[in-house]
Amino acid sequence: MSRKRTAVLISGRGSNMGALISAAMEPSYPAEIALIVSNRPDAKGLERAAEFGIPTAVVDHTGFAGDREAFERAIDAVLREHRIELVTLAGFMRILTPYLVNAWSGRMINIHPALLPSFKGLATHERALDEGVKIHGATVHFVSAEMDDGPIIVQGAVPVLDHDTAETLAARVLEVEHRIYPKALELVATGKTKVTGARVLTGAASESELQLVWPD
Ligand code: GRF
Repeated sequence: MSRKRTAVLISGRGSNMGALISAAMEPSYPAEIALIVSNRPDAKGLERAAEFGIPTAVVDHTGFAGDREAFERAIDAVLREHRIELVTLAGFMRILTPYLVNAWSGRMINIHPALLPSFKGLATHERALDEGVKIHGATVHFVSAEMDDGPIIVQGAVPVLDHDTAETLAARVLEVEHRIYPKALELVATGKTKVTGARVLTGAASESELQLVWPD
């Protein structure tokens, strides 16, 4: 089996990156984490990646004078240089232009800390509490031109509890993120995912491959 050479794009602490690296340590896992790219030189995740001996690259967006496409061309060049086949966004805090989205269409996935299509954008946990939802969660989806949009691959749900703050809710959702992201990458890397319109089909016998409810 050839494992798909996968890059993780980060901007911060990289805990989802860590979950993907751990999953990929299993030799039978269908993807290998071959490169970590950060747009911030001080991203904590870079240190973690180096500890695992994974190649890292920094493409600092501040060096492109606001030219988003030039920044993305630089990212694309690094990905190609490392013969990357799949791209995972894991807390990568840049809005993408159609340039990078189209270049990696069907081969780039993102994790968002909410049950899309609810709560796109930032401060998802605060907004979930403000709206009084009882079920919250996380989503892994293919990246499309719209932010936090694109066909949904896997979702994980958590209950919202009486005493929750944005922090406690975020922590509960993060545990689910760390479980659904490796699952989603596995589905994409094995070529099981088929996108029809907004839906991602996997032909899975068991629906549980595509959803996780915590505690399970
Ligand atoms: C996660 O909550 C992810 O869903 C969001 O940004 C956060 C990144 O956290 N897109 P980490 O860097 O993976 O720890």
